[in-house]
Amino acid sequence: MTDLPAFFRPIYLVSVASTNDEVKDRARTGAPEGTLVVAGEQRAGRGRSGRQWTSKPGNLYMSLLLRPDGDAGRAAQISFLAAVALSTAIADIAPNLTPLHKWPNDVLIQGAKVSGILLESSARAGGAVDWLVLGMGVNVAHHPDDAGQAATSLHAHGITDCTPHTLLGALAPALLNWLDRWREEGFAPLRAAWLARAAGLNGPIRVRLPREEFTGTFRDLDDNGSLLVEQADGTLRTITAGEVFLPRN
Ligand code: BTN
Repeated sequence: MTDLPAFFRPIYLVSVASTNDEVKDRARTGAPEGTLVVAGEQRAGRGRSGRQWTSKPGNLYMSLLLRPDGDAGRAAQISFLAAVALSTAIADIAPNLTPLHKWPNDVLIQGAKVSGILLESSARAGGAVDWLVLGMGVNVAHHPDDAGQAATSLHAHGITDCTPHTLLGALAPALLNWLDRWREEGFAPLRAAWLARAAGLNGPIRVRLPREEFTGTFRDLDDNGSLLVEQADGTLRTITAGEVFLPRN
């Protein structure tokens, strides 16, 4: 099995319903930070907004237990951390690829989604986070055709010697590096690293909110990770949650 930094306490399972559910169960019974469940397949993989995440063997399915200081708002920054760690790992494995970030936490290759990130957390009375599960699915060998959004895999880009375990071998140290940096230096370096690989920066963007959809120009991330979109009248609008669409190039 993959050699991981000592922070990680890996548990490899052939088949689970959802690695996030496995880690949530362990979190509730006091499992330590660093508990990492990696599965060969998921029978009921979950995506954001209640969607399912197709999880046949060949891709990476993993969930990591963290116990970050602070409230859920601060902990949400971990989704940027995961995206930056993943794009770093992909660029290490395949220097010819240019993985880019799409707000809030997708990683794209040539405009198509190669991964999904799902954070789930529980807070104590008073608001401090008790546990947070960082779930990551990465399309290594295959990708769904019906995801409602263009998807791709590493194999589709010719990185056919990459396996879920070789990817995890690059991803785990990148995650740990960014976790340490985020704890010591806060969001600023992470924000800079995310923006350095942001897809569509200063270009057109469409934003879908629960009751409204609008277009504008993607200008920046603020100090909390909210998206800053310039509207036609020149005003900046701060988006804390929503779905964004970029033109494909
Ligand atoms: C998204 O919709 O983009 C997020 C998808 C997250 C999928 C991963 S796969 C490992 C972990 N276990 C799950 O059930 N979901 C996440």
